[in-house]
Amino acid sequence: FEFDMVVRGGTLATAAEVFEADIGIRDGAIAALGRNLPRGAEEVSAKGMIVTPGGLDPHCHIEELGQDGTAQEESFASGSAAALAGGTTSFICFLPQWKGHSLADSAPGYAARAEQSRADYSFHQIITDPTPEVLQKEVPALVARGIRSLKVFLTYDPLRLTDAEFLDVLATARRLGAFVTVHCENFDAIGWRIGALLKAGLTDPLQHAWSRPPVVEREATHRAIALAELVDQPIQVFHVSCEEAAAEIARGRARGLKVWGETCPQYLTLSHEDLTGPDFAGAKAVCSPALREKAENARVWRRIQDGTLDIVSSDHCGFSFATAKRAAGSSSYGTGAAVQRPDGMPAFNAIPNGVPGIETRLPVLFSEGVSKGRIDLPTFVRLSSANAARLFGLGGRKGSLAPGADADLVLWDPDRETTIAQERLHHAIDYTPWEGFAVKGWPAVTLRRGAVAVREGEVLAPPGTGRFLPRGPYDLAKPTGRVPDGFDAAAVTWA
Ligand code: URP
Ligand code: ZN
Ligand code: ZN
Ligand code: ZN
Repeated sequence: FEFDMVVRGGTLATAAEVFEADIGIRDGAIAALGRNLPRGAEEVSAKGMIVTPGGLDPHCHIEELGQDGTAQEESFASGSAAALAGGTTSFICFLPQWKGHSLADSAPGYAARAEQSRADYSFHQIITDPTPEVLQKEVPALVARGIRSLKVFLTYDPLRLTDAEFLDVLATARRLGAFVTVHCENFDAIGWRIGALLKAGLTDPLQHAWSRPPVVEREATHRAIALAELVDQPIQVFHVSCEEAAAEIARGRARGLKVWGETCPQYLTLSHEDLTGPDFAGAKAVCSPALREKAENARVWRRIQDGTLDIVSSDHCGFSFATAKRAAGSSSYGTGAAVQRPDGMPAFNAIPNGVPGIETRLPVLFSEGVSKGRIDLPTFVRLSSANAARLFGLGGRKGSLAPGADADLVLWDPDRETTIAQERLHHAIDYTPWEGFAVKGWPAVTLRRGAVAVREGEVLAPPGTGRFLPRGPYDLAKPTGRVPDGFDAAAVTWA
């Protein structure tokens, strides 16, 4: 046989176009596209299906270990099963840094645990403590290992950087050809609002949103972009929740800056209303930035349509509802000291932040985007894989159907109507915020590097079959070469 497998008779969607073709696969890679390809050793029928590149989720928290002992409950085996079942064949998660620790002795053994993944994976390195040792020795060693992106937080107690520390990280990344992603919220403003809310006796999950309204995100987004401009370092703003923050990104791009923005399905479909409900149910929708008013969903969609937000990630977070309800102290992803309410539940600020969504990301995006006519199929492919592959140095290998790319494919049944239900999901978390959400379009079959990894909800790829994806230098991470006054401060501070 010329091919190990032929995926036959599908409608192919790439980042650029939609056309009918068979896909010939050899040695786990796409070998040929064309009509009437010769028989393969194995045949998969894609009749009536839309075939897209496998999803790349560039922002998810898997098995992350906090310095305070909190752990993201999703394991690499469960999280990657959920990813594959939802049409995501690779993801980028986070190597933690604990404050006061080197990178090497933060969350020991984390990278080895990732070897249990069923999906391909890479890491962003979180930087919480940018000492000279970390920036000048450890980060260069990391980049040499193919870990080429750094993640910084401008909020959360144990994680956030000051502006000066952020500048040091940006300068380091610039020198090394690494990329920087940023969580943009104003830490002091949030802390001040939380103090006032608690003093006023306002402790419900809904007040999580009151503690961090859009202005808090807009200000930090503006500041992050300004500081990146000062250093001339490309950045991506994580999880943009609202028009105000998106507008800052659009303004930066209009100035010629290399700044990108992602959003997540929660900011396209959920709202304040999900932060209320009986039995503390609002805790299930506590994430940061917070969910906004319902009308904001449409504004975020418009920023997808105009290209300002060009990646939809899950920001999958592994905290169960049961864990949120007994949150005893502030977690790495909470803010401030824990306060107990009369009903025994924690005040909003001690609920760990984040929602699970690695499996539902693409079905929700396909249904709300493609099936409802908000975006076309090439845009879906760009949002779900191709743009993340380009932005994070995996172009040509992931997010593509071009010969030579890994044969990661999703066969979408565009007509299948179903509702999302926790009992059918594969993640380790005890709820989904999309329970009962109706979708049209479903990933029927997922192939990872030429092997059927999921068929009709049954996960066939065993743990340990995912591969680490090292990333080399690439153009999008290169600075523009424009620094204020022509003085390259980044080069000097490093010497
Ligand atoms: O609420 C969120 N997003 N939790 C996960 C951590 C982060 O901020 O990305
Ligand atoms: Zn310690
Ligand atoms: Zn974040
Ligand atoms: Zn996150």
